[in-house]
Amino acid sequence: MINSFLNIVQKLEPELAHSLTLKSLKFIKFMNWKDFNHPSLNLKICNLNFDNPIGMAAGFDKNAEVFRELFQIGFGFVEAGTVTKLSQFGNPKPRVFRLKEDNAIINRLGFNNKGADNFLNNISKNKSYSKVLGINIGPNKNSDSFVKDIIETFKITYSSADYVTVNISSPNTESLRNMQQNENLINILKEITSYRSSETTQKPIMIKVDPDNTEAHYGMILNNVKKFNIDGIITTNTTLNRANDLISKNKREDGGLSGLPLKDTSNNVLKFLSKESNGEVVLIGVGGIETAKDVYDKIKFGASLVQLYTSMTIHGPGLINTIKKDLVRLLASDGLNNIKDAIGVESR
Ligand SMILES: Cc1cc2nc3c(=O)[nH]c(=O)nc-3n(C[C@H](O)[C@H](O)[C@H](O)COP(=O)(O)O)c2cc1C
Repeated sequence: MINSFLNIVQKLEPELAHSLTLKSLKFIKFMNWKDFNHPSLNLKICNLNFDNPIGMAAGFDKNAEVFRELFQIGFGFVEAGTVTKLSQFGNPKPRVFRLKEDNAIINRLGFNNKGADNFLNNISKNKSYSKVLGINIGPNKNSDSFVKDIIETFKITYSSADYVTVNISSPNTESLRNMQQNENLINILKEITSYRSSETTQKPIMIKVDPDNTEAHYGMILNNVKKFNIDGIITTNTTLNRANDLISKNKREDGGLSGLPLKDTSNNVLKFLSKESNGEVVLIGVGGIETAKDVYDKIKFGASLVQLYTSMTIHGPGLINTIKKDLVRLLASDGLNNIKDAIGVESR
């Protein structure tokens, strides 16, 4: 049944397909969905318990509408958002394009979302969940100052999250990537960490970086992350670069490219940050995951957790259980008792 639904959805315009997928996910609770769990996948990162290291990447559940259903289909954690303080339409449509032959997507959505009030309300209506919910925040396109807007949105969302990700890397909001520059970054990190210190619960903070930069740039980010005790870095967002071997007709669309063609680029950033941080900073690997081997590689390169998005739109929700089962086999064949033992084995 899920396969025929997937066949239909994949023929629809991608944004329409996405909203239909969100609606249909609501019915998962009426299905006899068997989640697969195994103790070798359990791990504790930043004081949070994950029953497996695979998370839904930001952008899928922008308004925190289906995170409980995503937990149910087997994700160990969900990063909802990107949410902005006020609701906004995003860029003109069409703005999502499948690159079927390349196992990829190009999107230029531009933080379309219903705003923080609606988002937080959705979370409070669904309080009973036992997995990890991250909140990914960004600035409104028309705000006077991205720095101030990000700080305010951080404060508004902090108490509802298990961890907060500051998205300073989406390519579809003009100038957002400038927030990764030294001075802007310092201004943001200083304020949000000082806010965190004033709170009773110290929750993990992540920043999400782009894959299109130099080693010097990532080195500067890492220094600031350490200086301000930021817990982790999510590597990476979508890329503006286009590999020469893309073949799909949509390959020239503007926007961020995700999926298989992003894998090596984002893995290179992950490897660099892992080597430079020497295990002191948590890394979350995202970009091009389709199989358990892809997950395992990212973990061996230094990721403590991973996320995916594009491959689920191609293979459907059953992919998560398939990956988890195969991952358990990979661990066993290497004689490892727990996924944690694989973190960074190929980077140090
Ligand atoms: C349609 C679409 C929308 C996205 N929206 C967001 C977003 O709002 N915030 C964000 O941080 N990343 C967003 N991303 C990036 C993903 O979170 C992820 O970093 C990227 O797609 C690479 O992972 P993948 O290759 O598994 O898709 C989006 C990706 C896609 C395909």
